[in-house]
Amino acid sequence: MKILIACYSYSGNTLKVAQKLKNDLKADLTEIKTIKDRWYLLKVWDSLRGNQVPIKQCTSDLRNYDTLIVCCPVWAGRTPAAVNEYLSLLKNAKDNNFAVLVTAGSDKNQKATIYIREYLSEQGMKFMGQILILAEDVQKDDFSDKLDIFIKRFQKEQED
Ligand SMILES: Cc1cc2nc3c(=O)[nH]c(=O)nc-3n(C[C@H](O)[C@H](O)[C@H](O)COP(=O)(O)O)c2cc1C
Repeated sequence: MKILIACYSYSGNTLKVAQKLKNDLKADLTEIKTIKDRWYLLKVWDSLRGNQVPIKQCTSDLRNYDTLIVCCPVWAGRTPAAVNEYLSLLKNAKDNNFAVLVTAGSDKNQKATIYIREYLSEQGMKFMGQILILAEDVQKDDFSDKLDIFIKRFQKEQED
């Protein structure tokens, strides 16, 4: 089982969790990075509109993988524009498995996980699980137990 973790992280929370996931699952990690930073309000605007922004080169061809885990923060209840761009660039995604990990300031309603799930399912990928981790728990280093539960469920899904 070859897993690719694709992580967008603006202020480091999501990357911290993605790095633990990488070590625990012995996965590869590719970082999604924007070419230019945008003002806070433009970040919010882009997310609300489902916009895309240019990103630096990263691994988006899944030819050598059978599973993709998309990791990103929730912005304006939605996905950051860099993640929208990354998803649009995916190649050889059909029939691969995927899971979604988001970090967020609160666990109130958000559409980021739903959007990623719907988009990747439409590409013919198979959903394996999702998790939301609170930013404050990442900052307190208090997310291992929750992540372990996610990993166990995810591994069980892969076996079934
Ligand atoms: C532009 C922007 C919009 C955000 N919008 C939300 C939001 O709608 N809901 C939420 O719970 N957190 C929101 N947050 C908080 C982030 O999701 C949270 O701090 C996350 O852990 C940041 O991850 P990162 O450090 O990997 O960038 C927002 C943060 C930013 C910068």
